[in-house]
Amino acid sequence: MPTLTSIDFQITPLDAPLGAVVTGLDASQPVAPNVILRLKQALRNYHILIFKNQTLSDEQLLQFSFYFGSLFVPPDDIPVLASAPGVVPVVIPISNVNNGYTGTGELDFHSDHKWTPYPSSGSLLYAQEVPRHGGDTAWLNLNLAYETLDEFTKQRIADLQLITYNPFLRDRNAPPAKYRRDRTIPLISPVFLHPLVRTHPESGKKILYLDYATEVEIAGLDPAEGAELIEQLRQHLNRPQFYYKHKWSAGDIVYWDNQSTLHYREAFDPNERRVMKRVSLAGSRPF
Ligand code: OGA
Ligand code: MN
Repeated sequence: MPTLTSIDFQITPLDAPLGAVVTGLDASQPVAPNVILRLKQALRNYHILIFKNQTLSDEQLLQFSFYFGSLFVPPDDIPVLASAPGVVPVVIPISNVNNGYTGTGELDFHSDHKWTPYPSSGSLLYAQEVPRHGGDTAWLNLNLAYETLDEFTKQRIADLQLITYNPFLRDRNAPPAKYRRDRTIPLISPVFLHPLVRTHPESGKKILYLDYATEVEIAGLDPAEGAELIEQLRQHLNRPQFYYKHKWSAGDIVYWDNQSTLHYREAFDPNERRVMKRVSLAGSRPF
């Protein structure tokens, strides 16, 4: 006889460019093999999964996350959110209270760890306390962004390689740059070239692998031409028809594919509390 969990378990696609809602699953408990396989397939198809009504300890969040891969560990010399010399982030407090990370401001559309050699495959963000207004998070479908480019642009960008500069190493006194035009600036950390058009490692789908605002450079292109092309691609991708905006409830976990999506966060009132936990999973070399 089927268990209660398997009767109630459902994956319901959103009426949106990406995303599916998962109900009837308790992520704090061991999960059946066929359920894990369905979740992995659903992540490939829908890019983000939204689990409702969860209550987990940090250890339970980790154990649930590890069904989908191992922990993302950055190289020692490449800073990422919450890293410090000799410290690998595990369960990261994404919170505006109690020494958490990311504050209360708006975060432009980005993917996590894109400046590292092997960016994470995905992250799970678990909401424990949410503000009444603001602080929504949007996820954007980069496969759709690629598919809707015109043929000329697809051909123009087909073999280009992109450097994404590490935002944790940028000069805080300089105005934020979206493109590196000055090649005389000394490099303070290794940089990595990744294809501007990435092939998703499991689905094989083509991805426009570009953040909205992080400083980048296209290898081998004249800076003016590169900057113009990146600006055009960013105008193209930042459109509501490619994204879903999530209004959080306490108890939600969103598991996103960091290889095929960008995410954005709205600002929120610093007098309100927003307490979340994030686990990022290891990825592979982009191709
Ligand atoms: C992150 C992030 C967005 C949010 O944790 O990587 O970008 O909504 N968070 O807090
Ligand atoms: Mn992020």
